[in-house]
Amino acid sequence: MRIAPLSRDDSKFAYPLLKDALPFDAISVVANEKLFGSNGKRAGTALGAWDGQTLVGVLATAGRWIKLIAVAPSHRRRGIGSSLVNAAQKSAGTSQLRVCDHPGNYLSPGIDARYTDAQKFLESCRFKVIGEVFNLRAQLVNNPRITDGKKAELVEKAASKGYVVRRAERAEELPLGGWIEHTFAPVWAHEMLLALAGPRQAVHLAFKDDVPVAFACADGNNQGLGWFGPAGTSEEHRGAGLGEALLISCLLDVRDTPEGGVIAWVGPREFYRKVCGAVEDRKFLVFEESR
Ligand SMILES: CC(C)(COP(=O)(O)OP(=O)(O)OC[C@H]1O[C@@H](n2cnc3c(N)ncnc32)[C@H](O)[C@@H]1OP(=O)(O)O)[C@@H](O)C(=O)NCCC(=O)NCCS
Repeated sequence: MRIAPLSRDDSKFAYPLLKDALPFDAISVVANEKLFGSNGKRAGTALGAWDGQTLVGVLATAGRWIKLIAVAPSHRRRGIGSSLVNAAQKSAGTSQLRVCDHPGNYLSPGIDARYTDAQKFLESCRFKVIGEVFNLRAQLVNNPRITDGKKAELVEKAASKGYVVRRAERAEELPLGGWIEHTFAPVWAHEMLLALAGPRQAVHLAFKDDVPVAFACADGNNQGLGWFGPAGTSEEHRGAGLGEALLISCLLDVRDTPEGGVIAWVGPREFYRKVCGAVEDRKFLVFEESR
């Protein structure tokens, strides 16, 4: 068995392997982004494990994160997964490895609780669970809280308080990116820029006196699936209904996507339950290497 960097040309061998190994993830839509994409700061690296000319294992990493790992069912329990983790350990140096929750470019924000083989495997590699995270999901069809009429009502309500709520324009990428990076987080700016450049341009903003005070986006990370996030309202403008207006605007944009309505890696569950009826969709466990 040979471990070597996976090139984009090899990715055609990786797709069927990943599709079989990760049944709870829509990997065929986002495989390239996960294997080779960056998060704006760290480039992605993909390794393959080869048995002769056959690809039997795949690992995607970025810095100290393992973004995904999969071994072909026919080749499991032969030490291939462990060899891939060893390779990741070598390139991470002294940093403790983490699994999945790579900010700004993640397949999922932890190991899906249903991937029990992966959990046992990680425990045997001396990783431990350090947290739980959740995706919520809002129903986009026949949901009276997510309609064009509701959006118009929320935008009007914001206008009565002096706010302008509208879609972001592509030409605004530089000032917007700078504002989000400075006010919230650099990786949020990265995800917003992906969403803005994406096919749905699903970035919505609120302004007060021509100054941006809130944003929300969808279909940035895991582009093509339609996941919602990130979103943020400047502290002094919270409680004015802006988060709701921007959320509903984004959810309307992703009605035709395979996983539109997924609200990734939440945060304020009660807010999402109240404004769009979102309920728990998937539970994830965050693993970190123990030292
Ligand atoms: C997790 C996965 C990559 C492990 O690959 P692997 O090549 O079979 O792992 P290894 O052979 O190196 O296993 C090392 C040790 O982990 C433990 N282990 C691995 N799979 C296990 C399982 N199904 N049940 C119990 N223990 C397991 C064992 O202790 C094993 O050593 P042993 O075989 O000598 O008992 C593989 O099961 C897989 O592809 N799963 C689906 C993909 C997935 O869920 N990925 C995580 C989300 S990205």
